[in-house]
Amino acid sequence: MYDGLNNELKALESQFPDLVSTDSPTQVVGGEATEKFASVAHPVRMLSLQDIFDADELVAWEKRLHKLTGKTSLEYYGELKMDGLAMRLVYRDGVFVQAVTRGDGTTGEDVTHTVATIRNIPKTLHSHKAVPASVYEYFEVRGEVIFPRAAFEKLNAQRAREGLPLFANPRNAGAGSIRQLDPAVTAQRGLEFIAYGIEMELPELVTHQDEHELARKLGFAVDPHDKVLSSIDDILAYREHWDKKRSSLPFNIDGLVITLNNNADFAQLGVVGKAPRGAVAFKYPAETATTILEDIRVSIGRTGAVTPYAVLQPVQIAGTTVSRATLHNEDEIERKGIMIGDTVIVQKAGDIIPEVVEPIISLRTGKEKKFSMPQSINGVAVVRPEGEAVARLADLNYGEVRWQQLIHFVSKAAFDIEGLGEKTLAQLMEVGLIKSPVDIFRLKKDDLLGLDRFAELSADNLIRSIDEHRRVSLGRFLFALGIRHVGSKTANDIAERFGTLDQLLMATEEQIGDIPGVGAVVGHSLVQWLKSSTHRRLVDDLIAAGVVVDQQQRRAGGKYNGTTWVFTGTLESMSRDEAEARIDALGGNATSSVSKKTSYVVVGKDPGSKAEKATQLGVTVLSEAEFLKLIN
Ligand code: IVH
Repeated sequence: MYDGLNNELKALESQFPDLVSTDSPTQVVGGEATEKFASVAHPVRMLSLQDIFDADELVAWEKRLHKLTGKTSLEYYGELKMDGLAMRLVYRDGVFVQAVTRGDGTTGEDVTHTVATIRNIPKTLHSHKAVPASVYEYFEVRGEVIFPRAAFEKLNAQRAREGLPLFANPRNAGAGSIRQLDPAVTAQRGLEFIAYGIEMELPELVTHQDEHELARKLGFAVDPHDKVLSSIDDILAYREHWDKKRSSLPFNIDGLVITLNNNADFAQLGVVGKAPRGAVAFKYPAETATTILEDIRVSIGRTGAVTPYAVLQPVQIAGTTVSRATLHNEDEIERKGIMIGDTVIVQKAGDIIPEVVEPIISLRTGKEKKFSMPQSINGVAVVRPEGEAVARLADLNYGEVRWQQLIHFVSKAAFDIEGLGEKTLAQLMEVGLIKSPVDIFRLKKDDLLGLDRFAELSADNLIRSIDEHRRVSLGRFLFALGIRHVGSKTANDIAERFGTLDQLLMATEEQIGDIPGVGAVVGHSLVQWLKSSTHRRLVDDLIAAGVVVDQQQRRAGGKYNGTTWVFTGTLESMSRDEAEARIDALGGNATSSVSKKTSYVVVGKDPGSKAEKATQLGVTVLSEAEFLKLIN
């Protein structure tokens, strides 16, 4: 889901560069550990929450809780859901030693250097009589790093004065501030940390409320509006109250978190997917606005996709001015019944990409016009293959497509050639020096001298910058090729599986499709791409022009890369979830059913039929003790 959205966001951003904020998730990478900071495995996975939006869903949730716990009266804990960045802080001997982002939930990034500048984080734990001694040996707390609205507005005002791009919202600005290399930048920004949970086995922590109290005693800021709630009515009243009051808070919230207060019940209920059953995010609906859709135009992406977008009369939503919105594809326009000239409701999905929700039919004047996809663009046919939603240019040699491909090729997650910005790239394309990515590596200093804006020094600099980036990992190389469905994470997963370019070039659809998280669509797309002689020539020419593709390094700690694990029965030393997280952090993949492809089955107390099946299939069966030995 995240990858899908992220890819969509990237595609949209390449179409609407004016909407890209410097700290968009594509730049910031919220859900994936990047290479800039050291990655750190979370001892207990950092989960997310299931979203609910209305009273019906709340009632349905409670019903499930009643059924699963066998209790008919449950106590809840309500608190604000801050719209910031999840963070785990570690204290050793009472001293703050590490801050780690959520990352993908299993592994995050070490951002201690910037988080250490957040003033309301205690650098040493406050001493308190009622706190167990072990806490002062080792302690972890989780919470949200937030960017208070006032500080955010101040920052954007300053950036506007300096002509810098503005941040889209406090969350993005916060994430960007944390992922700075220079902590001095972070220190000036006025971030805060609000603690919301303690994932440690302490007998003192009977309820979720106890976690908040302990955090308070130790000197952390904790949501002062948190509250025990005893019924659905209580929860609804609490929500109603904060719906009205949310704009008076100093920071943005996107809803409330409602947690089963009893920790034993909470643990017993376990986890589905990435979210615990015992808590929900009771979200407020996205902010919307009404405006006129003045025109529908199309943009062209690097795969030749022709995507319609709406030109809107500028309107304010959630603090920013919106004048463009994605329309995805023709079918989407048809399904929503949108016409040019309509008054439309626009919303910001995830507060970043504006989207047209629906037209207000009652406001039509009769002058509205239907949109139809152009049959050709500057003489190049637009085609839409049977059964596909996306229309594409028939000829990928079209200038705009090649331009988008080039931008993608030099982008951060690909070859990352800083010296080759859009301006320079456009200039070199215009004078005919660069037609394809290969030409980048054939550039000579002499070619540049004599061009506008190029002198000795700048020509040297550009050639050096290109030279320094000739070497890339296989994952970056694969991503740079701009193959449909092959995003950055997917490219890295594939690269890890095959290691070298030669191996990758021989890969079959099935081998690629079998990589966990990759799948058949990618396998098909990649192998089809590689079959084309033009594409093979591109790869050969890149190598001939001096590109060096390094063997893909396995991710750090990937002792069990490529292995598949199944856990059955109850483990004594840790929860199933924790065990799965540990395996995940070591590069393995935890699944639920045993097959011939399973590498290990770990058997706890009272195992089910899976243990038997494993023996039948000849899969290695481990006891809990053996498992612990392996992973430690
Ligand atoms: S509890 C099991 N409490 O919302 C997850 N989360 O989808 C534990 N968040 O990324 C989260 N305010 O960073 C919790 N008071 C709060 C929160 C909160 C914001 C964020 C959290 C997480 C996301 C959950």
